Amino acid sequence: MTARMLRLGVNIDHVATIRNARGGKHPDPVRAAKMAAAAGADGITAHLREDRRHISDSDIDRLMAEISLPLNLEMAATEEMLAIALRHRPHAACIVPERREERTTEGGLDAAGQHNHLKPMIAKLSDAGIRVSLFIEASERQLDAARALGAPVIELHTGRYCETEGDEQAAELERIRRAAAHAETLGLECHAGHGLNFDTVAPVAAIPTVVELNIGHFLIGEAIFGGLDGAIRRMRALMNDARGVAAKSA
Ligand code: PXP
Repeated sequence: MTARMLRLGVNIDHVATIRNARGGKHPDPVRAAKMAAAAGADGITAHLREDRRHISDSDIDRLMAEISLPLNLEMAATEEMLAIALRHRPHAACIVPERREERTTEGGLDAAGQHNHLKPMIAKLSDAGIRVSLFIEASERQLDAARALGAPVIELHTGRYCETEGDEQAAELERIRRAAAHAETLGLECHAGHGLNFDTVAPVAAIPTVVELNIGHFLIGEAIFGGLDGAIRRMRALMNDARGVAAKSA
């Protein structure tokens, strides 16, 4: 099987987290998105949470107006978020589970258990020309459910793989590999993300049926020490090396 191009979506949520720690306008996530584009990102990802703890509605307005890269809007499956997505019509919408009390997105969406709730939402987003992805655990049951829901894309949750070590991590990676292969047989485009860093990215980037990685928190944290441009370029290079492709000219 030939490896397809691997895209990097840079998640800029945590630039907004730092801004919101003090209020005001600095640091500006839209400026970070422009830097990410210059550093070789293929897309920008932003999660508009119900509690607006990082990205704000006006950030989404500005990302849509000022960024030329495709925007992947991460959203909970709520009527409010559906209306916002339909108003903006971003390139893609990734439906994620959201609990107010969680620190970050913990675990994948229950695509199997929420079929009746998700089905009309996915249809409305798709009818508006938005490419819908579902953020799910690497399980055949969830992949089959995503297929039954008519979502063209799934994003595999790599959080547990990134948090574990040794045999446990190897088992998690194998689960992701198997799910990525199953996605291919179902005709689903396969993305992956959550918790990836310089040490964990290569084995996931090497999975030939994964075509997009969405990475945020580590890149923004690393930017404190060496700058955002360098962090993104290094991530891109690690992805390219793992994939065995010539460096994408940024
Ligand atoms: N993909 C999805 C669906 C996410 O919800 C997140 C976190 O917002 C990410 C990828 C990126 O995760 P991280 O910030 O840990 O790199």
